[in-house]
Amino acid sequence: MQTIVADIEKTLAQFHPEAHCEETGKVMEVGDGVARIEGLRNIRLNEMIDFGNGITGLALNLEETSVGAVVLTEANTVREGQTVRSTGRLLEVPCGRAMLGRVVDPLGRPFDGKGPIETTEVNPVERPAPGIIGRQSVSAPLQTGILSIDAVIPIGRGQRELIIGDRSTGKTTIAMDTIINQARLNHEAELTVDVNIHPVYSIYVAIGQRQSSVAQVVRTLEERGALKYTVVVVATAADSAAMQYLAPFSGTAIGEWFMDHGMDALVVYDDLSKHAVAYRQMSLVLRRPSGREAYPGDIFYLHSRLLERSVCMSQACGGGTLTSLPIIETQNGDVAAYIPTNVISITDGQIYLESDLFHQGIRPAMSIGISVSRVGSAAQTKAMKEVAGKVKLELAQYYEMKEFAQFGSDLDAKTVALIEHGKRITELFKQVQYNPFPVEEEVVQLWAAQQGFFDQTPVEKTREVREKFLEFVRMRRKELLQEIRQRKKLTPEIKKSLEEVSAEYQSLS
Ligand SMILES: Nc1ncnc2c1ncn2[C@@H]1O[C@H](COP(=O)(O)OP(=O)(O)OP(=O)(O)O)[C@@H](O)[C@H]1O
Ligand SMILES: [Mg+2]
Repeated sequence: MQTIVADIEKTLAQFHPEAHCEETGKVMEVGDGVARIEGLRNIRLNEMIDFGNGITGLALNLEETSVGAVVLTEANTVREGQTVRSTGRLLEVPCGRAMLGRVVDPLGRPFDGKGPIETTEVNPVERPAPGIIGRQSVSAPLQTGILSIDAVIPIGRGQRELIIGDRSTGKTTIAMDTIINQARLNHEAELTVDVNIHPVYSIYVAIGQRQSSVAQVVRTLEERGALKYTVVVVATAADSAAMQYLAPFSGTAIGEWFMDHGMDALVVYDDLSKHAVAYRQMSLVLRRPSGREAYPGDIFYLHSRLLERSVCMSQACGGGTLTSLPIIETQNGDVAAYIPTNVISITDGQIYLESDLFHQGIRPAMSIGISVSRVGSAAQTKAMKEVAGKVKLELAQYYEMKEFAQFGSDLDAKTVALIEHGKRITELFKQVQYNPFPVEEEVVQLWAAQQGFFDQTPVEKTREVREKFLEFVRMRRKELLQEIRQRKKLTPEIKKSLEEVSAEYQSLS
């Protein structure tokens, strides 16, 4: 018995970080950013390797006599025969509030010219997802400010909602709008010292994009005052595959710091299709066996262990949340391809964007019929639930009837009314980019639509009338908007005020 215990202790000691001694090894082969090293006998998976001169590598293939490592920085300066050192540390990124407003690479090194980041906190890049006991179910809404999403497929804090669509269908814009809306709320919370608003800090992870696209994103965030609540993690197409592979994990680690401190964070992975390609490239160079579409067999595990880290922690564990919006680019709308189906099955809902809708001018080009959020109305306030409850059904009926109406057959009055109503809701769901609505204004316009407020308006004027009406409410009934936001439900008094203000508007126009 004693020997067994001693054996177990010996084995455990081997894996214990403190028990680790630094070792030196020798580079036997180097090429394509990958080095084969001999002599590092006790190295662990994902451990950092010091190549000297500030060059870091990451141990990824642990083989019997050698270690396959990717060189993360300046791979071309690593030479065959050179000595390297294991560090005993897993890869870490700097974390903390000081990261907000900064643009960093996947190792957390800033490259925005704003000087070094003053923080001593670090988080491991890879970390197991929290267990079931520490979690609670998602219930607080994460307002995107995009009417169609908040009304029909609400997103909750701690949820994973996939944004999927072809090239140039507005995927990035949806994520940006969401980040901008969080910034607007954070700013408001600061101004009014409103304890009911829990700020959400965002992390935007750009993977394999052109440098100019990333610059554009950063510029937009800055212009809209959202950069100071956001961390941008970048590995562009020009960076190594290893850096692109690391980027989403680093972004998650930075987000987890906020979650661990009882706060709410949102992380956007733009996009995981390019991430999969980078991982495939890295794996092929590491000579790992390839499977379907030449992706390595563990590609599903790669994305699931990333997305499993988005959670809503229980109050006992601090109550922090990490929400994620992964993005996937499809080819010709093919959602049945390997990587899309993988990520669809890992996430809690999907926002499907369609090129056809986008070109018809329906923007955001979300297909209401097939987009879902499995968290559902649990992530909506009572007020929103009340006004949005019927919308999805109404739209489904509208799409069905619209098909019939095309045949020019005689329609009864009820069907005509349904179609006319559907047309107006579709109009209301059109929304220009970077223009998120506060939740109380979303409630007001949906309430108005439900009351038939827009039914007499010509379809093409719906959006114009909406703007005018909202402006009218903002000018005349500021306190009503505040009331809806604070009470989170439609009390009889609020409904009465809404009726009054809409009657007032109609009598004036
Ligand atoms: N709601 C909107 N209203 C008006 N224009 C929009 C809207 N959403 C997106 N756009 C425009 O459509 C274009 C494509 O948007 P975006 O870059 O978000 O798409 P994407 O799917 O991320 O593209 P890519 O595949 O290149 O990453 C942009 O020029 C953007 O300004
Ligand atoms: Mg994009």
